[in-house]
Amino acid sequence: MKNPTALSRRGFAKLLGAGAAYAALRPALGLSESTPNPTETKTSDVVRLSSNENPYGPSPAALRAMTAAFALAWKYPDETQDDLVDALARLNQVSKEQILPGAGSGEILKVAVAAFTGPDKKLVVGDPTFEAAAGHAKASRAEVVKVKLNATYAHDLPKMLEAPGVGLHYVCNPNNPTASITPKSELSAFLAKVPPETIVLVDEAYHHFVESADYESVIPLVKDHPNLIVARTFSKVYGMAGLRYGYCVAQPDKIELMRAQQSWDSESIMAIVAARASLDDNAQVENGRKNNSVVRKFVCGELDKLKFNYIPSHANFMMIDMRREVKPLIAAFKDKKVQVGRLFPPLPNHLRVTIGTKPQMERFLAVFKELTT
Ligand SMILES: Cc1ncc(COP(=O)(O)O)c(C=O)c1O
Repeated sequence: MKNPTALSRRGFAKLLGAGAAYAALRPALGLSESTPNPTETKTSDVVRLSSNENPYGPSPAALRAMTAAFALAWKYPDETQDDLVDALARLNQVSKEQILPGAGSGEILKVAVAAFTGPDKKLVVGDPTFEAAAGHAKASRAEVVKVKLNATYAHDLPKMLEAPGVGLHYVCNPNNPTASITPKSELSAFLAKVPPETIVLVDEAYHHFVESADYESVIPLVKDHPNLIVARTFSKVYGMAGLRYGYCVAQPDKIELMRAQQSWDSESIMAIVAARASLDDNAQVENGRKNNSVVRKFVCGELDKLKFNYIPSHANFMMIDMRREVKPLIAAFKDKKVQVGRLFPPLPNHLRVTIGTKPQMERFLAVFKELTT
């Protein structure tokens, strides 16, 4: 194993990526307080607010676990993975046969679409929503039915139920890009009505950021609904987007149908040890939620002063009504070194922006003012 302190500062800066974790690991890496933190916002830097990542980075425990795991890189994940699956099963109060890990929850979406849609089994999605599931439907030659979100930007579940010949319903809650929630009462009423042969995939990638009493995870409903799959990720509040780890909870027969679509050992041992260590760090989730909530409130307050409307956000991103086409604005932000979200065609005037750190959002707001006044 290579001594980590023997790596160059630049190398480590690149490796670690995020401010808080970098600061926490400084002593262990042999770096002094005066070593520049690569994640601190300087006006000359690009501010990345385009992919709903966690700007505070992974848990320091995850970084320590990965450093220690350099020595494990030669071996397949096997029992390291088993240990994490056991921990995820305990966390979600299900059996280990009800957990399927993936290289990000993106892989879970892909294998679910592959397993449960086809030329005569449609995929039904909200509009707009996270595009990955619909993208994967091309490979299974499944028709995609897009159902417009309702007036509160929740999934229009009664309308989704009307589609005939459905293999899979994809429900993103909170929804990307709108950061809106579909209320728990509507979701449980929907689950009660979906025919048993139709699968429902609820994507809870942004679960940890929600503070509303109208929202609830549907993981506890898996035991009563053999057609329910719930996807989770370590990319968001756990700050591990670059590491790639996600999973789903479902009944064992559905897990096996999805596993058959997956490559063996698709998760890296580094991601596995980082995820395992993160689960024991309660502060990671608490701080992630708190920081996001405080900075989001600040941004909303500034937008209120500027008299811009936005969709109330339940996640680590939000959509702002720019009152004009956002496509050229996205490019204009990029020219000013602020990367914002892509265009979501059903909402051509809405700009999606990730909630970054306060300095990042101050920079965003400065450019926002420049471009809108
Ligand atoms: C709603 C939603 N689901 C899934 C993903 C994929 O995340 P990952 O594959 O990193 O777990 C994303 C990524 O942004 C997302 O927004």
